[in-house]
Amino acid sequence: MNKIDILLGLQWGDEGKGKVVDALTPNYDIVARFQGGPNAGHTIEFEGRKFVLHNIPSGVLTPGCVNVIGNGVIIDPHILKGEIEGLRQAGFDLKDTLKIANRAHLILPTHRALDAANEKALGKMKIGSTLKGIGPTYTDKTARKGLRIGDIAMDGFREKYEKLKQAHLQQIQGLGFDMTGFQLDGVDFNEYEKLWFEGIEYLRQFSFIDSEYYLNEALDAGKKVLAEGAQGSMLDVDFGSYPFVTSSNVVAAGVCSGLGIAPSRIGKVYGIFKAYCTRVGTGPFPTELFDETGETLRRNGHEFGATTGRPRRCGWLDLPALKYAVMLSGVTDLMMMKSDVMDEFETIKVATAYRYQGQETQHLPFAACTETMEPVYTELPGWRKKIEDRRQETEDRRQEAGDRIPEKLEAYIKYIEDYVGVPIKFVSYGPDRTQNILR
Ligand code: GDP
Ligand code: IMO
Ligand code: MG
Repeated sequence: MNKIDILLGLQWGDEGKGKVVDALTPNYDIVARFQGGPNAGHTIEFEGRKFVLHNIPSGVLTPGCVNVIGNGVIIDPHILKGEIEGLRQAGFDLKDTLKIANRAHLILPTHRALDAANEKALGKMKIGSTLKGIGPTYTDKTARKGLRIGDIAMDGFREKYEKLKQAHLQQIQGLGFDMTGFQLDGVDFNEYEKLWFEGIEYLRQFSFIDSEYYLNEALDAGKKVLAEGAQGSMLDVDFGSYPFVTSSNVVAAGVCSGLGIAPSRIGKVYGIFKAYCTRVGTGPFPTELFDETGETLRRNGHEFGATTGRPRRCGWLDLPALKYAVMLSGVTDLMMMKSDVMDEFETIKVATAYRYQGQETQHLPFAACTETMEPVYTELPGWRKKIEDRRQETEDRRQEAGDRIPEKLEAYIKYIEDYVGVPIKFVSYGPDRTQNILR
């Protein structure tokens, strides 16, 4: 029986999922997103070109690959239209290869306004949301009030829209939020609403599918399917540092509900992490660095949000958090990204435990958001050597493993493997789709 493979972020997002999904896509027939929405920003670079995808799966740049936006994803039709058109102008026509789940929920313009109103009301305690309407849309989904892609083709769509919009406007008013002059992506709210409906009309040309049937039947027919996660495990609504999280299940379980795939049909679980950590938005980050080293990570790693442009908070690798994420998703293969960012470092620290309430522990505590967790570090020597770039060589030669990884980087990798208990099979040393070594 064919199984679905999964690729997930294991930290706070932005691990490099877009790059790896794109690099793996030649091995798959279908790539499917299962959760999140345009809060994601997945970067792909090749042949000097750079693409950032938000609502669209990262398999779209590989000719022939079918890309599915699954039922667990939430969609802003205006943003999605912009992305599809941008890709079309760059030479990638998705008309026949992009499929959208009927059951995927729609992000209304008022969901985005509500997001802004909620954040404003939280004041200093704000989540640091990307303001794409994620929280309010998933709230309506669980409250059984949402509008779905399939509704577009049904009678009474406009009426349902108006009803939900009015309910949102009341909530917004209740929060004391003034809509006068409120803008979305630089345009007036009413103008955005017009663009949103244009987006709805535009999407009608794509196939709306029952993605649970589509994917299970594809697996039955022997097709190879990769599920692409957004965000990272530490932002999971159940297991992240609640309430400073996103509003979906980012862990492997999200694939079951977000695509309609049974647990027994899950194959490989690729877990991806950076050789250090970053986080955007508010919330605990035990290994965060506020010094020159943090600046160096940000500068070398170009750590600025792909969706919002915000500077990312940077810090050392957090092994208890990584091990936790591996446990939650049953990760079978690890992939380490951005090792090149620390090429010049003389020494590197990794957190191996936390000091919490006077005790040393490797468990992430429930009260992580309110109590102090001090990381306990182990210091390792830096490798001070670049992985030799063999972009010009053939795929086989390039991916020849072992000998190209500097000895001390190999020791760093082994240290992580020993701690976490899962092999690191893939090491990425640059943003280009070819800058990887298989171990
Ligand atoms: P995603 O959200 O997980 O897809 O990650 P983002 O695209 O938000 O952020 C990852 C950033 O790191 C992007 O700018 C990538 O081009 C870049 N990147 C990915 N892998 C590497 C790597 O190994 N080295 C370096 N220097 N950059 C990388
Ligand atoms: P990718 O897929 C990094 C963060 C936001 C905020 C919190 C909630 O590119 O890895 P939301 O907009 O979901 O209400 O924001 O989650 N966040 C991300 N951080 N990468 C992402 O996606 C993120 N998506 C949401 O910064 O702290
Ligand atoms: Mg990102």
